[in-house]
Amino acid sequence: MEFFLDTADVDEIREIAAWGILDGVTTNPSLIKKSGRDFKEVVAEIASICDGPISAEVTAMDTAGMIEQGLALKAELPENVIIKIPCTPEGLAATKVLSDEGIKTNVTLIFSASQALMAAKAGATYVSPFIGRIDDTGHDGMELIAEIMNTWANYDIDTKVLAASIRHPTHVLQCIQLGAHTATMPAKTFRQLMSHPLTDKGLEGFMRDWAEVEAAGNA
Ligand code: E4P
Repeated sequence: MEFFLDTADVDEIREIAAWGILDGVTTNPSLIKKSGRDFKEVVAEIASICDGPISAEVTAMDTAGMIEQGLALKAELPENVIIKIPCTPEGLAATKVLSDEGIKTNVTLIFSASQALMAAKAGATYVSPFIGRIDDTGHDGMELIAEIMNTWANYDIDTKVLAASIRHPTHVLQCIQLGAHTATMPAKTFRQLMSHPLTDKGLEGFMRDWAEVEAAGNA
């Protein structure tokens, strides 16, 4: 399973990339706003930190505008940048054109299995169903992941299912059980996935005993 970071904060990306298991990064206009930095400059820096796919989102609402922005981003930014496109009819058409050009895409803001399948038919490299935002409405976002994975099992689909809008480690663990190909999450969730109080307590005990081994001249 691929683990992506969902942030435009380069300090967080450097921290998690140093662990050696970061497969990619997703950004969106809100995350770019939060970074307070120039869009292309920050995406280029992210792409230099992590060599996996880095999603940069188009902001045009019409097909021609999305294609133009997608081509410009591909021309100006590093090779590992992929084009994030909203799941609208216009976005679907842009995805088809860019995919036919051999450009990798991530179709975002997916809230139904039918949207995911249509984006896959348009040639999307990734489809991004948003779990947390569905949970926020009082429904179970994980049911969408299950529905999409069941759909994928019925057909020969190359498109990867990128579980997004992840809020906590349980979301990630459930996605793993369901066979989602990729999960994108905030740095906080990455850290939570790696930490356990018993690891900390155990290590503390080992280090305390080792200090005594050293003090006895037996190291
Ligand atoms: C995915 O690519 C999106 O950037 C992201 O996961 C949205 O998450 P949010 O619902 O926490 O904003």
